[in-house]
Amino acid sequence: METKENSFLDTPKPRKEVEALNAYSAPLEGRRNLLRLDFNENTIGPSPLVIQSLREIRREEISIYPEYSGLKEKVVENLRKKNPSVNINSSEIGIFNGVDAAINAIFHAYGNFDDLMLTTSPTFGYYTPCAQMRGMKICSIPYKGIDFHYPFYEICNFIVQHKPKILLICNPNNPTGTRLCPKKVLELTKLSSKTLIVVDELYEAFTGDSVLPLINFEKTTNLVVLRSLSKTAGLAGLRIGFAMANSIVINIINRVTGPYDVNSFAVKAAITALEDQGYIDSYVNKVLEARDWLSKKLREHHVKHHVDGGNYLLIWPKSDLNEIEQNLNSSGILIRNMDKKENLKGALRVSIGTIDQMKRFWSVFKVVDKL
Ligand SMILES: Cc1ncc(COP(=O)(O)O)c(C=O)c1O
Repeated sequence: METKENSFLDTPKPRKEVEALNAYSAPLEGRRNLLRLDFNENTIGPSPLVIQSLREIRREEISIYPEYSGLKEKVVENLRKKNPSVNINSSEIGIFNGVDAAINAIFHAYGNFDDLMLTTSPTFGYYTPCAQMRGMKICSIPYKGIDFHYPFYEICNFIVQHKPKILLICNPNNPTGTRLCPKKVLELTKLSSKTLIVVDELYEAFTGDSVLPLINFEKTTNLVVLRSLSKTAGLAGLRIGFAMANSIVINIINRVTGPYDVNSFAVKAAITALEDQGYIDSYVNKVLEARDWLSKKLREHHVKHHVDGGNYLLIWPKSDLNEIEQNLNSSGILIRNMDKKENLKGALRVSIGTIDQMKRFWSVFKVVDKL
C-alpha cells in the first residue's frame, strides 16, 4: 500500500510540513442541481444587477489584467452606509481571492516556523492547515458547555502567558454559531501587542456582531477583520473577500500575494453587489425568517438542535446520522455531517436558505428521522 512516506519517493521532496499535511478537502463536486445546505452559501444566487453587469463585461476587460480602482472605496462607502460609526479608509482594506486566500496570506506573512496559533474548537477547518503548512504550533481551546460559549477567560490567560503569534476568532463561529461581543474582541487586542488577532466575520450579516464600528485601525494595530461576498451576496464561485486592518498590516499581507490574484469578473461583480445592498439585506431577512421557521419545527418535534449566529444551525437527529445523511442526499438535499468535529458527535450542520427551501428540507427530514 502506498503510504504518505513513500508516495514522494520518485519526485523531489516537498517541505516536511507539506509532506505531513492532509490537504483541506471538502465535498465540492456534483452539487449543482441539488438543494445545497452544506456550505452556508447564498441559496438563491446573486442580484440580477450582478448578472447583468457580468453579461456586459467588455472584451478588453477579459484580455487585459484586472484593474482594482474604485473597489476599496466602494467597500468603505458600503460599510459606512450600513453603519456611520465605521471609521475606515481605503488604505486599510486588502482585496483577496476569497477570504480563504486572505487567511492563507496572513499566515504566510506572519506565521514563522514554531510560532503559536491560538484558536477555538470546533471551528472553520482552513485555519489549521494554514498554520500547519508553516510549521506553526497550534492550540485549540474548546467551546464551553452545551451552548458552546466562547472560552474567553481561557483565551485571555493563554494570550497573557504565551503571547501567540496569531489568534483566530470566527465570529459568529462556523459551525456552532457562537457570538463574541465586539467589546470582548477589543479587550483581547489589548492583552498582547505581539499577537495578531484575526476576526473572521464571514457570517456577521446573519445575526452577528462586528467589531468594525468600534475600531480605529490607526490605534488598534494588531487586529485584522475578514469579510467576504460569498455567503451574503452569492459570489462564492467568483472568489472575492476583504481583509481590514491598519494600513501597514494590509501592506505586509499584500506582499505575499500575486499582483493579479483577483480576476476582473470578481471585481465587476463585487462593485455591483456592493451597490445593491438592498438585495443582500432582503436575502439576509429571508434567511432569518426561514431560520425561525425551522427552529420552531425542531422545537415542536423535540429534536435536539442548536441555533445562534450565522446562516446555519446544528441538528442532532434521533436516527443514525449516516443513514439520515444518505437519505437526504438521495432526495437531492445536501447537508454537512459534523460527526468527527470536537463536541459535535451525531450532529448535522444545515445551512439556512429561504422558507420554501427549509420546508423542502423539513418535509424530507421529518420522514427520514421518523418524527
Ligand atoms: C468561517 C469561514 N471563513 C472563511 C470562509 C471562506 O470564505 P471565502 O468564500 O470568502 O473564501 C468560509 C467558507 O465556508 C467560512 O465558513
